[in-house]
Formats: sequence, C-alpha cells, structure tokens
Amino acid sequence: PALSKFTAALVRWQKKHGRHDLPWQQTTDPYRIWLSEIMLQQTQVQTVIPYYARFLERFPTVDALAKADINDVLTLWAGLGYYARARNLHACAQAIATTYQGKFPNDPALLTALPGIGRSTAAAICAFAFGHRAAILDGNVKRVFCRVFGIEGVPTTSAVDKQLWLLAESLLPKKDIEAYTQGLMDLGATCCTRTKARCDTCPMAGFCHAQQKDRVSELPHRKAK
Ligand code: ADE
Repeated sequence: PALSKFTAALVRWQKKHGRHDLPWQQTTDPYRIWLSEIMLQQTQVQTVIPYYARFLERFPTVDALAKADINDVLTLWAGLGYYARARNLHACAQAIATTYQGKFPNDPALLTALPGIGRSTAAAICAFAFGHRAAILDGNVKRVFCRVFGIEGVPTTSAVDKQLWLLAESLLPKKDIEAYTQGLMDLGATCCTRTKARCDTCPMAGFCHAQQKDRVSELPHRKAK
C-alpha cells in the first residue's frame, strides 16, 4: 500500500479511537516522558501506571532523581522487573544533571548516548516532548509493519530490522508526529495484537497485506525453533 495512506489513516484513527488519557500523555516534560518510556519498555501500561505516579511523587524532577540513593530507586522499582532499567535510570538522571544541567537534550544522537536509551526510546522522547519527527520501532510496531506491508523474514534479524527502520523513517508525517507515534503504539496494543487481531475495527483493513491475503496469524514470521 501507499505509505502516505498508512500515515494519514493512522493519524485519523488515533485522534478518534486512540488512547488520550494515559498519565504521560498529559505532559510534554521530557523527564516525565522519559520515565514513562523506560517503564513501558518491558512492562504493560496497566502495571506501569501506579509505579509512574509513585515515582513522580517521590522524584518530581530529574535533579531529585539524580540525588537519590540508588537503594531508594530500587525499592520504588521493586515489582517492575528488569532491574538494570532502574540502575540505568539513575545513571541517566545523574548524567543529565551533571552534563546537561538537568535539561534533557532534544537530539536523538545525544539521547541514545545516555544509559538505557535506545534508538526507539530516544525517538519517542523527541516526538512526545519536543514534537520532532523521529521514528520509533518496538516489537508492537514491527508487527504492524510486517502485517500491513507484507514484510517477510524474522523481524529480529538484522537484515529485516534494517528494512523496518527504513520503512519507519519513510512513513513519518510532516505534522501530527505525536498522534502518529501514539497511534502506532495504540494500534499495536489494542487492535493489531499478536493473537486475536481485531481487523474489523482496524483503519488499515482495506489495504493491509496480511488481512487481504489471510496471513494475519502467519505474520510477522517467528524464529524457527
Ligand atoms: N509503550 C511505549 N510507550 C508507550 C506510550 N507512550 N504509551 C503507551 N504505551 C507505550
């Protein structure tokens, strides 16, 4: 399908049917956006919400987090899992406090140089906090792209990963980057799910490769066991 069709349909759908009330959607504070994206890397939205609130209450700014004892950070993190995230979170806050005077850089290259921030997380921060055109690509987004555009191969392999990043970059809208980025997340989480995809309510149904060829359960391809 045409790339512009995908982008326009996604932005429209997000505005009407996407999520608008998640706690981190009520702010453009890069500290709050960053904290949410780190928590959401490996943890579901409903689990993250109460942790996010407690964290911000205890550490309202990046400087407060930077000054904290790591043991207090780990205590607040307890239950979220993947504790390297909490250690990187603290190290990242300290780097921002010392290197950037407590202000998050708005450049993806500078952000990815910080602990715990990969390419997709840097892009999400840039899009949501600064309104920059930057491409995200996590597991949910890969699934959407593989289905809609009929991308063959296993999305975790480097050749397919490279192809997916090029596609992600080429799909970015000129405006509405926040709605577009949130739309990708929302579509993957609520409609184009791994099992039981809800194609009857999907904005891409008319031109999705997988839906038209009846390959939704087959795409994305899984690693051979
Ligand atoms: N997963 C990763 N980032 C997210 C966000 N901003 N909203 C909902 N789910 C997400």
